[in-house]
Amino acid sequence: MMNKRPIIIDTDPGIDDAVALAIALYSEELDVRLITTVAGNVSLEKVTYNALRLMKFFEKDVPVAAGANRPLIKAPIDASNIHGETGMDGYEFEEPEPNKLLSDHAVNAMHKEIMSSKEPITIVPIGPLTNIALLLRLYPEVTTNIQEIVLMGGSASRGNAGVMAEFNIFADPEAAKIVFNSGIPIVMVGLDVGLKALVYPEDSQKLKDMNKTGNMIFHLFQKYRGGSMKTGLKMYDSSAIAYLLQPSMFEAVDTHVDVELNGTLTAGCTVVDLKGYLGKEVNAKVCIDINPDEFKKWFMESLKKCN
Ligand code: BDR
Ligand code: CA
Repeated sequence: MMNKRPIIIDTDPGIDDAVALAIALYSEELDVRLITTVAGNVSLEKVTYNALRLMKFFEKDVPVAAGANRPLIKAPIDASNIHGETGMDGYEFEEPEPNKLLSDHAVNAMHKEIMSSKEPITIVPIGPLTNIALLLRLYPEVTTNIQEIVLMGGSASRGNAGVMAEFNIFADPEAAKIVFNSGIPIVMVGLDVGLKALVYPEDSQKLKDMNKTGNMIFHLFQKYRGGSMKTGLKMYDSSAIAYLLQPSMFEAVDTHVDVELNGTLTAGCTVVDLKGYLGKEVNAKVCIDINPDEFKKWFMESLKKCN
């Protein structure tokens, strides 16, 4: 049997997070060891409740730990305009099992999982990077057993939370700066691909009768405002999972990335130095393009594997 790749998903569910979790949890190639939550799309309380509701829905026993309830320095923002007040509007989930949440803080849970793992762990952040920055500051030894960080965030072109800034980085730019400057190999799966990883009405309709998970996702999609049904719904977070499972659908470049903290118009944007102006070392592989047809096919095939 093939060795599954061990990963930790740090998330803020979030409708597109819920879809990414479904694909990762039912993949035969990934071993999701831990799910950690971070304030982002909605409050920490809500995203943690959502993660627990999803585990119950998927009938998966992956441990969930709650993390940071606010960014390192900036005042919190949210994206309830995109995901609804609950963060996962559109579907009536059952209540999660009581006492399912780990008592450990996300950062301690990640530390334990990383240091006790026989194989190096891949971290997959699909929300603001607050927990990951705290982990690196509190437990710098984790870098010895992290294979890479494959994150959804940033942009080599325009933004979706500001002219140039993408939401996950804009929400906690200081944390993102710590992560990009950590020396850990980073894959940035940002808006350049997220904006092309689309689901159209005909596929959404197929999901409705595909299986229990597809039906749940169909209903969430009715409330999701990340794009529109007509022009395509943006599957930002699933594109990070797609990179783990089928990197051949991406075009990626090795380059230097830093985060703008003080720009009067550009704070929170990823500065992707494609032409080497800064003369700094490569610290990230940046996905700059994706084959939309391959993504579409992969997306539907992946969801067929769910319950
Ligand atoms: C990112 O922001 C959130 O709203 C989504 O869940 C995704 O992680 C896209 O910019
Ligand atoms: Ca997210």
